Amino acid sequence: MDCLIEPNGSYQMIGSDFLNLDPATAPPRGRTAWLTQQLRTAITDGTLAPGTRLPASRVLAGELSVARGTVVEAYRRLGEEGLLVTNHGGGTEVAALAATSASLPNPEPDEPTPKELLNISAGVPDLSGFPRAAWLRAERRVLTTATAAELGYADPQGTPRLRTALANWLARSRGITAGPEQIIVTAGVTGALSLLAQVLRDQGITDCAIEDPGADGNRRILDYWLDTLHPIPVDSAGLDVTALARTDARAVLVTPAHQFPTGVVLAPDRRRELLAWAEARGGLVVEDDYDSEYRYDRTPVRALHAAAPERVVHISSLSKVLAPALRIGWMIAPTDLHDDLVRKRWATDLGSPALPQLALADLIDSGTLERHLRSLRLRHRERRDAAVAAIRRYLLGCRIEGVAAGLHLLVRLPEHVDDTMLAARAEEAGFAVQPLSAHRISPGPPGLIIGYGPHPPPRLEAALQTLGAIGRFTPA
Ligand SMILES: Cc1ncc(COP(=O)(O)O)c(C=O)c1O
Repeated sequence: MDCLIEPNGSYQMIGSDFLNLDPATAPPRGRTAWLTQQLRTAITDGTLAPGTRLPASRVLAGELSVARGTVVEAYRRLGEEGLLVTNHGGGTEVAALAATSASLPNPEPDEPTPKELLNISAGVPDLSGFPRAAWLRAERRVLTTATAAELGYADPQGTPRLRTALANWLARSRGITAGPEQIIVTAGVTGALSLLAQVLRDQGITDCAIEDPGADGNRRILDYWLDTLHPIPVDSAGLDVTALARTDARAVLVTPAHQFPTGVVLAPDRRRELLAWAEARGGLVVEDDYDSEYRYDRTPVRALHAAAPERVVHISSLSKVLAPALRIGWMIAPTDLHDDLVRKRWATDLGSPALPQLALADLIDSGTLERHLRSLRLRHRERRDAAVAAIRRYLLGCRIEGVAAGLHLLVRLPEHVDDTMLAARAEEAGFAVQPLSAHRISPGPPGLIIGYGPHPPPRLEAALQTLGAIGRFTPA
């Protein structure tokens, strides 16, 4: 397609030849990442000026001999980075502010190289959708407006601006009524757990109950700091509170909104029993709210903290909403623990770096984080649906659980299958998947945890088809 000048002279319509996009140079895999990068470079180096109109996705796909979805996805990603916008006529054009987003770092290729494992284990959102341009703009705003004092030693509890933004956001999204003075900014859920375990230990509490199955990473952190962990069974209503009450634990770590890894929601009567246990025992419920922002087909589950703020420590982070690499999370603790937690944080490292906290506060206050979440929810839901459909098609005889929320689901395997061996065979075939037994202390039925967040539907379908063949769940 030639470069066309619109009658009013204000627009150029470009085609693949104008961009030197040679279809022959498109890699056989990872075409979306390739096209996104080609367009990004052309925009940021000025080849495509602000206002330039891009071809319709169908046209560009035809010219490049790629699937239309590849172009649609590339346009979408660049839209999220703030480089492309939809104009009044529904076409796609280079954003007026694209130049200010120049010099964005190149994203990681989102297809594994032949040597890398395709990771379909739990844990991360679609990181290719990280709002890079919005983050860059937030950082720029922070750097142009931060006072000299804000560049000094920050409050070990977290910058007041972020704590205020978080307090408002948590009230809107989780029904939590905590003032900024109650929030402690941490290095993710992990940093919060580690800090809490140390303070509990100082107070003479050296054991803690945990869900079984439960997140192995959390178990290892608590195991590092404490002497004894009590595994408590989880059933279809969540943590078995009767079993908890039989131990002499005074603290318990739970994932009430979306149990990891089974995906069950703590049932209303169990919530009541758990809070009654805490009241009677003088105990502490540690609520790991790690992925509660993703709810697809069920009503929001209110944070446990909202029901009993003096019995519950609420912990969460941005790892599932933005990126684990930020290492930003928060903790809201009962009054009698709060000062000790802040003191411990001060004595450990004087708190988290201030500039990312200020950038995050800007992202929350401007509404960007909530917009980002809305678009992520739609994408993750689509991926969840694709994973469910592929499991039904290729993993015959398996049961799917925990689909209503989060970024992962649980596949219950037939009793005779060894999930660890199946995961090892999957690794030999080129992809990483977590067996349920990796998150268990006591033996139990086999399963696989499938994380769908980072993968477009065709890739999920291909991986699950291979998995079906490896496990011989699909007739040959
Ligand atoms: C249940 C659960 N809690 C906490 C975490 C850790 O979160 P963070 O990155 O905030 O330390 C994870 C990580 O995947 C998780 O699965």
